[in-house]
Amino acid sequence: MPEQRVRTFHARRGRRSQLTESRLATLLPRYAVPPAALAPPGSPGRPTQVVVEVGCGHGAAALGFAAAHPDTHLIALDVHPPGVARMLAAAAEAGLTNLSAELGDAVEFLTDRIPPGSLDAVHLFFPDPWPKVRHHRRRFVSPDTLDLLASRLTPDGHVLVATDWADYAAYVRALVTQDGRFMVREATRPAWRPVAGFEAKGLAAGREITDLALERATRIELA
Ligand SMILES: C[S@@+](CC[C@H](N)C(=O)[O-])C[C@H]1O[C@@H](n2cnc3c(N)ncnc32)[C@H](O)[C@@H]1O
Repeated sequence: MPEQRVRTFHARRGRRSQLTESRLATLLPRYAVPPAALAPPGSPGRPTQVVVEVGCGHGAAALGFAAAHPDTHLIALDVHPPGVARMLAAAAEAGLTNLSAELGDAVEFLTDRIPPGSLDAVHLFFPDPWPKVRHHRRRFVSPDTLDLLASRLTPDGHVLVATDWADYAAYVRALVTQDGRFMVREATRPAWRPVAGFEAKGLAAGREITDLALERATRIELA
């Protein structure tokens, strides 16, 4: 990764509400990522499958996925405190135990905390579109993150991307196809993802949703 990392998220200012503060104080430690989920595949006590969601927002997709896949551990990441606080309150309410969360930059998390060849999937739902050409370098899908994803996924691992920006979908198809390590498949909308958050906003604004699955172009052997 480059020395000067480009941030893929919007810097937000403003005070956290008391509700967010108190939820984070109690729930972040309770839903901290368990060390076993960060261990290489085959390690004792590791969940059967581990999936990371990048930019979970207030977590509707993460909650839906965890409820529908009790044997998979879902690590939800975002830099936005109110969203993570709301997701964790809902996880506690639903009694979910196969979800954990961290407040922070997913690029750093994937780089520093995830061993190579260990994630069954990465989910990227409605990433910030960064529509201006001069901001395209801030898009989460980039040559650098493709390196990172190719390294952190298992040999059979995949990436799910959903976007309500046709331009972002076209950009992902073009970049990934040119890169060559993944094939882009037009995917069907997963039934476990509720229509919420930025998907609902996109639909309300009359935009079409594109779901893409990035799958390894060739079976690779990880060192
Ligand atoms: C447009 S919102 C979508 C949120 C949610 N996935 C949804 O569908 O409603 C994009 C989210 O990605 C988060 N994000 C962007 N880059 C990130 C990064 N590098 N690490 C963690 N979160 C990131 C932003 O903070 C924001 O909450």
